[in-house]
Amino acid sequence: MDQQKIDILLCTKVWKPEPWIEGLSKSPFVRQVHVWPTNEDLSEVKALFVWKPMDEGVVEKLPNLQWVSSLGAGVDHLVNDPQIPAETPITRIVDPFLTRDMTNYCVMGVMMHQRSMDQHRQNQSDSHWDRLPYQNLKVGVLGLGELGAHCAATLANLGFEVSGFSRTPKELEGVKCYSGNQISDFLSPLDVLINLLPVTPQTESILDSELFGQTKKGAYLINVARGNHLVEEDLIEALDSNQLSGALLDVFRQEPLPEDHPFWKHPKIRITPHVASVTSPDSALKLLMNNIQRLIKGEELLHQVDREAGY
Ligand code: NDP
Ligand code: OXD
Repeated sequence: MDQQKIDILLCTKVWKPEPWIEGLSKSPFVRQVHVWPTNEDLSEVKALFVWKPMDEGVVEKLPNLQWVSSLGAGVDHLVNDPQIPAETPITRIVDPFLTRDMTNYCVMGVMMHQRSMDQHRQNQSDSHWDRLPYQNLKVGVLGLGELGAHCAATLANLGFEVSGFSRTPKELEGVKCYSGNQISDFLSPLDVLINLLPVTPQTESILDSELFGQTKKGAYLINVARGNHLVEEDLIEALDSNQLSGALLDVFRQEPLPEDHPFWKHPKIRITPHVASVTSPDSALKLLMNNIQRLIKGEELLHQVDREAGY
């Protein structure tokens, strides 16, 4: 085999593999792109690109595997997969367009809420003229990583009063930063809470009645991170008791959201089908190509996951 070229296995589940194959095939460093499931010989595969949990038995077909990459920003489908050897580096997508789109979605959610767009839409269907007032909002972003930090800084630039919460202390211009055991101080003044955390054992089910009880009465929730952060019954209870005034949800424990799920018909819940920010192959491929070259040269891969921290 040509030492300067590698074989790649794509495991894309819900996404079409074609744009990835097309992009990767243009690289002078790629010999062949395989797509799971396949009966092809995978013994030369060095890189595995994955979106959504893998079938069992994939990695055992890859005796020369050296690197696994998520095709999204999240890695919850990979970090707990026992198939992936502990020493195999896992990377993820960090991409300016992914970041921009996520920020735009969150800004949209905050502004739709601030400007009472649901009520205006209702008023329009009732031919009812009502100049509803609006006020500046205190917005809190849970998670100040690649996405959360950009979202928080952008909202601050737009004039919102913004705070953020992260595991380790941060400094961000225009954003009041909290960390560690300061979560109650972070939550208590908020009008809007945006969740941009990764799912880890520490953050799973973090959006529960205890947390909702610490926000201001009538706060609004935007969950764009993962469905597993949210305790669904607790959200319904918080909405029905008016502890929360509404929620914009993009991610769910079960996707697609089952047709009979109570969220669909809840008057205070707005739903989008995991589209807050979708990886664009064109853009993400630049990072993947860069990492392919790094792998070949034996250099450190970009955007590696800390497997112990889980993100
Ligand atoms: P990063 O890994 O860059 O950032 C994660 C942030 O969360 C960091 O600030 C980290 O703190 C903080 N954090 C982690 N654990 C804790 C904890 N226990 N308590 C407090 N803060 C914590 O992730 P990204 O910003 O790139 O992405 C965030 C998530 O967004 C992804 O994991 C994914 O699930 C979701 N996502 C959703 C999309 C959609 O379309 N709906 C699209 C893309 C991503 P510290 O800085 O101290 O490490
Ligand atoms: C991601 C996502 O993690 O789209 O990139 O959810």
